[in-house]
Amino acid sequence: MNIAGREVEWFPELDSTMLEARRDLRPGRVIVADRQTAGMGRHGRVWLSPAGEGLYVSIVLGVPPAPVLSLALGLAAVAAIGAGDLRWPNDVLLGGRKVAGVLAQSEQNRVIAGIGINVLQREFPDGLDTPATSLAMEGIETTREALLERLIEAVDRCVALPSEEIVRRFTAASSMVSGRRVTADGIVGVTCGLDASGFLRVRDDNGTERTILAGGVRPV
Ligand code: BTN
Repeated sequence: MNIAGREVEWFPELDSTMLEARRDLRPGRVIVADRQTAGMGRHGRVWLSPAGEGLYVSIVLGVPPAPVLSLALGLAAVAAIGAGDLRWPNDVLLGGRKVAGVLAQSEQNRVIAGIGINVLQREFPDGLDTPATSLAMEGIETTREALLERLIEAVDRCVALPSEEIVRRFTAASSMVSGRRVTADGIVGVTCGLDASGFLRVRDDNGTERTILAGGVRPV
């Protein structure tokens, strides 16, 4: 199938689009599955991937790994959806609920950009780490194909930006990067921006500025 000028490999079922990408790391590959039996989230979590309800895609990027890329992919997801608040490093929230997630993995000096967007779900299981929502639940009507077209274009655009522009745009698109009391990587404090590499800065309760290198943030 050709979408946004790219040959898209669209499978009815895969273990994970990330694993399929790893099998052949040709830059430019776009892999989609209707359903994933082993959908992977960040930090070893599971990404629920019911058939036909979400967009589950991995794109092999033609750029070398860099921490700021993961932010660029969050920006691309927001652009494709047309709305959303970014929670560092790259969760997309609508009304405080997670609608999309990004998993960026480096493999043989290539980056596999994994993006999952909840599109048509009408309910989610209880007990998720972060409450979830879908585009349909938020009144945003689209198809997975139309969303994928916008996403491919946005990924190409966002990963090509200079890193200072990615950091600037992420800061503008996130309500959590500055002045929010959060817990992150075991530190509790107030967010005070991103550094030049896109890492989050948090001022802890002793007034010391700390850099958060991994994990995610939760408002407290
Ligand atoms: C997260 O927020 O934890 C990241 C979720 C990433 C999910 C996507 S769905 C497409 C790709 N294939 C996977 O197995 N995971 C990513």
